[in-house]
Amino acid sequence: MRAVLASASAGETEAIAARVAARLELGDVVTVSGELGSGKTTFVRGACRALGVTAPVTSPTFTIGHRYEGRIDVAHLDLYRYDGVSEADWGDLEPYFEGAVVFVEWPEAGRASLPPARIAVSIQHAGEDQRRIELTSAEAALLEDVE
Ligand SMILES: Nc1ncnc2c1ncn2[C@@H]1O[C@H](COP(=O)(O)OP(=O)(O)OP(=O)(O)O)[C@@H](O)[C@H]1O
Ligand SMILES: [Mg+2]
Repeated sequence: MRAVLASASAGETEAIAARVAARLELGDVVTVSGELGSGKTTFVRGACRALGVTAPVTSPTFTIGHRYEGRIDVAHLDLYRYDGVSEADWGDLEPYFEGAVVFVEWPEAGRASLPPARIAVSIQHAGEDQRRIELTSAEAALLEDVE
């Protein structure tokens, strides 16, 4: 099942992410794909706010991920620099999947080793501040009325 939404600002993308986040449960994995600067981290920030995270939400740069405390814990991974996920890499990654909702930016490198995503988010530029946000899930109910 797929839902396609239009966003006209970073704030709108955050609001869409907040509505998605409200449907998530501990242990859920959400992949966030899209070209450079499309708004992946912005999406994760909106989701984090909705989950009660008050800390600043920024792209993990010097580490593979961040972990935030909220009403439920949130992990934020960025696999941009990865070609694939080796067993040693997985040793670093695994703790992020314990007791958290997990958002994965640039998930392509981890496709083979990451737990399956409950929702896959794909963001595309659609001119200036416009973005096309596509949500895909095997569960139709999860995306119902998310517009
Ligand atoms: N509709 C929109 N949705 C999301 N971001 C937007 C939108 N319009 C403008 N922006 C701007 O685009 C930028 C998106 O940056 P962000 O870091 O979220 O992208 P990213 O996809 O995570 O980038 P990277 O590939 O470097 O990780 C921000 O500066 C944000 O303010
Ligand atoms: Mg980012």
